[in-house]
Amino acid sequence: MPCWTAVFLLAMTNNSTSDVLLPATIREQFACLREGGSQPPLVYLDSASTALKPDGVIAALTDYYRNMPANIHRGLYPMSEAATAAFEAARATVQKFINARESREIIFTSGATDAINLVARGFGDGLRAGDEVLITGLEHHANIVPWQLLRERRGIVLRVVAMDAQGDVPLDAFRAALNGRTRLVAFTAISNALGTELPVAEMIESAHAVGATTVVDAAQAVACRRVDVQKWNCDFLAFSGHKLFGPTGIGVLYAREALLQAMPPVKGGGDMILSVTFERTTYNELPHKFEAGTPPIAQAIGLGVATEWVTALGFDQIEAHERVLVDAALKQLEALPGVQIIGRPGKRRSIISFTLDGIHPHDVGTILGEDGVAIRAGHHCAQPAMEHFGIPATIRASFSVYNTLADVKALIVGLRRVQEIML
Ligand SMILES: Cc1ncc(COP(=O)(O)O)c(C=O)c1O
Repeated sequence: MPCWTAVFLLAMTNNSTSDVLLPATIREQFACLREGGSQPPLVYLDSASTALKPDGVIAALTDYYRNMPANIHRGLYPMSEAATAAFEAARATVQKFINARESREIIFTSGATDAINLVARGFGDGLRAGDEVLITGLEHHANIVPWQLLRERRGIVLRVVAMDAQGDVPLDAFRAALNGRTRLVAFTAISNALGTELPVAEMIESAHAVGATTVVDAAQAVACRRVDVQKWNCDFLAFSGHKLFGPTGIGVLYAREALLQAMPPVKGGGDMILSVTFERTTYNELPHKFEAGTPPIAQAIGLGVATEWVTALGFDQIEAHERVLVDAALKQLEALPGVQIIGRPGKRRSIISFTLDGIHPHDVGTILGEDGVAIRAGHHCAQPAMEHFGIPATIRASFSVYNTLADVKALIVGLRRVQEIML
C-alpha cells in the first residue's frame, strides 16, 4: 500500500476537517510545487484551466521520446512495435478508466474541443433541417460553437435550456425543453465557470426517453469524480488529458460502438484507411477510422499514466479533499467584505467564481499573480453564462488534489492585499 494511502485510511478514522485532506506529500510529485520550484512559491488555483503534471506523467513522455520515438501501427521493427504497444495500452487504460465496454470505443483526439467537433461533424452532419440540438446555459464555448456551425451547415435548430438564478439547470426545465424533434442533447457534467454539477444520469435518461442521442462534456468531471459511461448510459463523452494531470494535445471521445460504426470518418489521411485507389477508399476498422494521420503518441501514453495516477489516489479521497477545500474557501470568501459569489448551485464541485466590488477581475488576477497565487480571471470561455449574471468576467479559484488549506489562506490574504492596493 502506498504510504499516503495508509495516512489517508488512518485519517478517516478520526473526523476532523484537515484529516480528510489528502496528504500534502502529494505536492512533492509536482516540480513547480516543490520547494524552490518557483519564487514566490506557487499557489496554484487554476486546475479547472489545466492541471499540473506529476513527475510520473512527465517521465512517461520523456521515456517515449528517449526510448521508442517511432511512429505507430506501421513499423515492423521492435521500437515501432514497442511504441504501438504503449499507445494501444494507453487506450485500454482509458477504456478502463471510464468503464467503456470496448477499447475501440475510445477515440484519441487533440482535446475535448476536438472531440465535440468530431461529434458535430460525424453525427451532427447526419441531422436534417428542423432537427433540434439541445444544450444548457452553462456550456463552455466548446459545447456551443460546434452546434452553431452545425446550424449553419445543416439548418438544425439550436435550443438552450436556461440556468436559474443559482446557476443550476433545473431538471424539470430540462425535461420541458425535450420533445419529439430533439435529436441530440449536449451538456457539461460540471460547469467550468460556476462549478455546478448537473444530474447527468437523470438528464440522459430523460433525453433517451424522447429518442435523443446524448453528448456529455466531461472536461471538468474526469479529474474530480468517477466517470462511468455505462452507469451514465451516455452515447458520447468528451474530455481533455491536460485537465486530468496529463499532457496537452490529447483528448478522448468515447462513443458507443454502434454510433461509431454508423458515422462516416471526419478526417481523411494515413492510418484511417484499409486501402486507397484514386477511385475509392475503404476505411479502417474502429477506432482507427477516426484517427487520421500520426496521432499524439507520447501524449496518449502520458494520458494513460495520468489516469492510472488519479485512479490510485482514489476518487472518494479526491472528492473528500476537494470538498474540505471548497467549503473552507467559500466560508472565508463570504467573510471578506466586497466579495460576491457568482452562482450558488445546489451541487458544487471544486470551482468558485466570484467578483470583488469595484475591482476588475483582471486586476485581481495580475496582483495575485505577483504574489504567486494563480487564479483565472475572465469569462472562462462561457460568455453566455457570464451574461446570465450580467457581468463580463469573474475571478475563478479552482482546487485540486495538490492544494492545501494554506492555499485557501494565501488566496484570502492576497485578495485583502488587492483591496488595499485598488480601493
Ligand atoms: C467544461 C469544458 N468543456 C470543454 C473545454 C475545452 O477543453 P479543451 O480546451 O481542452 O479542448 C473546457 C476547457 O476549459 C471545459 O472546461
